[in-house]
Amino acid sequence: MFDIDKVRADFPILSREVNGKPLVYLDSGASAQKPQVVIDAISRAYGDEYSNVHRGLHFLSNLATEKYEGVRSKVARFLNAGSEEEIVFTSGTTEGLNLVSYGWAVDNLQAGDEIILSVMEHHANIVPWHFLRERQGVVLKWVDIEPDGSLDPQRVIDAMGPRTRMVCITHMSNVLGTVVDVKPICAAARDRGIVSVIDGSQAAVHGPVDVQDLGVDFYPITGHKLYGPSGSGAIYIRAERQAEMRPFLGGGDMIREVTKEGITWNDPPMKFEAGTPGIVSIIGMGVALDYLMELGMVNIAAHEAEVAAYATKRFKGLNWLQIQGKAPGKGAIYSFTIEGAGHAHDISTILDKKGVAVRAGQHCAGPLMQHLGVNATCRASFAMYNTKSDVDVLVDALELAHDLFA
Ligand code: ALA
Repeated sequence: MFDIDKVRADFPILSREVNGKPLVYLDSGASAQKPQVVIDAISRAYGDEYSNVHRGLHFLSNLATEKYEGVRSKVARFLNAGSEEEIVFTSGTTEGLNLVSYGWAVDNLQAGDEIILSVMEHHANIVPWHFLRERQGVVLKWVDIEPDGSLDPQRVIDAMGPRTRMVCITHMSNVLGTVVDVKPICAAARDRGIVSVIDGSQAAVHGPVDVQDLGVDFYPITGHKLYGPSGSGAIYIRAERQAEMRPFLGGGDMIREVTKEGITWNDPPMKFEAGTPGIVSIIGMGVALDYLMELGMVNIAAHEAEVAAYATKRFKGLNWLQIQGKAPGKGAIYSFTIEGAGHAHDISTILDKKGVAVRAGQHCAGPLMQHLGVNATCRASFAMYNTKSDVDVLVDALELAHDLFA
């Protein structure tokens, strides 16, 4: 059962004021707030249970290792991966995608091979591929979105040609809230021997994900958006792909043996985790995932859909508000500008005075801004702890900004 009052009470920061007003936090797309159980877990991990992992036989090292390694099966359950060996810990989606690039793509792509991207990718799912374009002559093939901000899977499938080796698509746009039907894309890619990379950074926060059902090869997620600590994340890597990969970072833990003459690598997933990891961040992420799984991702999705429906209704009354992206079934992420009302930064400053936190700028999505023909937008991104009354406060603040600037 999803009890919104109870959920809100679990997040201490939500009861604070900002600029003398109750905080209305609508920037969870950038980073989500943390429930008390996660904060307590971090404090316990440092205050009572801290040691390095995998490196000692003493009590605390065994305890920390057990807690840290225990998170792998939680991530596997959260994503419905076939085995916990397919889960590699990272510092977030950016590291996950760079691992795909340096660990898989560098060795498997030649000059002239193509990577398909949509124009609404986050920079984390663009820049590593631009590196390959610059360094190896790989070709980036861009797929447009529809005027309502949706991405037609068929357009992506039609773009697949004989030289296409990878398709890198977001599961949910961090700017438009568009949810992409990625399953047919992954299926078509698989049929053609193309590797699928689906950026799960936003989608995994808002509803259930089943990587086996999607049939995806690589699916990275980010802990700090999942109500866990910053610097935590994971990537699902299909076992078949792991076998084709080299380690990305070299150091302790990822090797079995090092001699003066050479090295032998550890087995996956350790093969991809060099050095002392983000021990406490990963433990905290595990607690956050437990919290989400207990609430139920289906219940979270239902609550957010109700708030989104209310927001859409309220925004309809504001004929000077230009919302970017109106794809059917979109998530509760609204990027907007106000007709005649200056820069997005000015609008967000007014909202902040009313205690409303939104992001303003390009949202790490330069090609999408180019496509939309805008320099910047404000973005209100809702999370499971937001309510219809947060929508009302936002609308009041927007009216004030409109009155002041337009
Ligand atoms: N990816 C984060 C965002 O969309 C930082 O704001």
